Amino acid sequence: MGKDVIIACDFASAKDTFAFLDQFTGRKPYVKIGMELFYAEGPSIVRELKARGHKIFLDLKLHDIPNTVKKAMAVLSHLDVDMCNLHASGTVSMMEAALEGLTRPDGTRPLLIAVTQLTSTSEERMKTDLLIDQPIDKVVMHYAANAKKAGLDGVVCSPLEAGKVHDVCGKEFLTVTPGVRFAGGDVGDQSRITTPEGAKAIGSDYIVVGRPITAAADPVAAYERCVAEFVD
Ligand code: C5P
Repeated sequence: MGKDVIIACDFASAKDTFAFLDQFTGRKPYVKIGMELFYAEGPSIVRELKARGHKIFLDLKLHDIPNTVKKAMAVLSHLDVDMCNLHASGTVSMMEAALEGLTRPDGTRPLLIAVTQLTSTSEERMKTDLLIDQPIDKVVMHYAANAKKAGLDGVVCSPLEAGKVHDVCGKEFLTVTPGVRFAGGDVGDQSRITTPEGAKAIGSDYIVVGRPITAAADPVAAYERCVAEFVD
């Protein structure tokens, strides 16, 4: 599985997204479409980006009863995305149902990865709000193991957790990691971060990078720098 840089297209409209991507004349970057853009524009944004030649990670983080998730995933499989995701906390049964729904009649399917614990959830909040009384890294590894048991392809996690996830779930189990910043760059609201080179050293398979590219004075140069540090 090739390593790649996925640009988080956290834009409010298709117009803003296309204006951003039109700057990339040489390459067609792998892009992540999140809830904001998908809910604003609907499935047409996926179709248009596919038609323009981009690979797509559709980051909708599904979490519902197994039957509902299975049916929703079947719809997403027809959209021909390359990767999509759900919450591992929906249980192994929900993840198994999702995988079933996502698999097309010919046996092909997009990659399916699980969110373990959101990086915005602290260990303290997990204890007080969710009544989960275990250390957060133990919870993350348990959820990753559940995702693997359900047959999923990998997890979204902090780059700092990627090595341990590979230790627990195997080298082939994908780690898709946000929280990437250039050395000396603006950290913003991310806390558990590393550089593209650091993520490569730890063993991330895909890095998801938003503002260090989208808010850069020269987004194409910032993207090429990510690729040079992480992939090449
Ligand atoms: O701008 P930045 O590089 O922080 O963007 C990171 C992207 O990854 C955003 O789309 C954010 O929602 C997403 N993400 C994250 N942490 C997670 C899961 C997703 O930052 N745990």
